[in-house]
Amino acid sequence: MIRRYVTEDLEGAADVFCSAFAEEPWNEKWDIDLAKKRISELMSSPQSVGYIYIDGEAIRAIMCGRKLTYLHGKEYVIDELCVTPDMQHCGVGSALLAHARNELAKEKIVAMALLTGKGKPSERFYIKNGFKVIDDMIFMYHFF
Ligand SMILES: CC(C)(COP(=O)(O)OP(=O)(O)OC[C@H]1O[C@@H](n2cnc3c(N)ncnc32)[C@H](O)[C@@H]1OP(=O)(O)O)[C@@H](O)C(=O)NCCC(=O)NCCS
Repeated sequence: MIRRYVTEDLEGAADVFCSAFAEEPWNEKWDIDLAKKRISELMSSPQSVGYIYIDGEAIRAIMCGRKLTYLHGKEYVIDELCVTPDMQHCGVGSALLAHARNELAKEKIVAMALLTGKGKPSERFYIKNGFKVIDDMIFMYHFF
């Protein structure tokens, strides 16, 4: 079942986040408290909208995002999307995107946007789900 994220989902969402990004190709060592902090920050703005996939009682996939105004209308910017490792490649990520797209289109959202690792499996996942790579933009970062 897919439904919108509520604050009480934080613990389960953080579990999914830690386990998904601990695996290849990310190998990120998130601890549960840091993951909770990031997810609650992402979900704390009035524009935040998240979705979770539940299997039985357990949260197995999450998507965090924000509805942000742009020139052509509101975009849904996906900040995080992850599926628990033992359920990847089963269509859950695609189902979350499709569910969000259906719901958000009714709320007059005109597009979805996101950043992901160039050449990573997630790039193929998003292309398979209708996203296009924008070649004339680059991600920039300044480490202090
Ligand atoms: C990327 C991710 C969200 C995709 O969700 P998913 O439920 O596994 O994907 P789906 O089953 O809906 O779609 C799978 C399709 O994506 C593509 N894909 C390529 N490599 C993949 C991989 N390692 N894992 C999943 N999908 C992959 C394939 O085209 C695949 O289609 P196929 O099953 O016909 O081969 C999920 O694998 C995940 O959480 N990965 C770790 C975290 C991550 O990378 N998040 C996105 C970073 S922003």
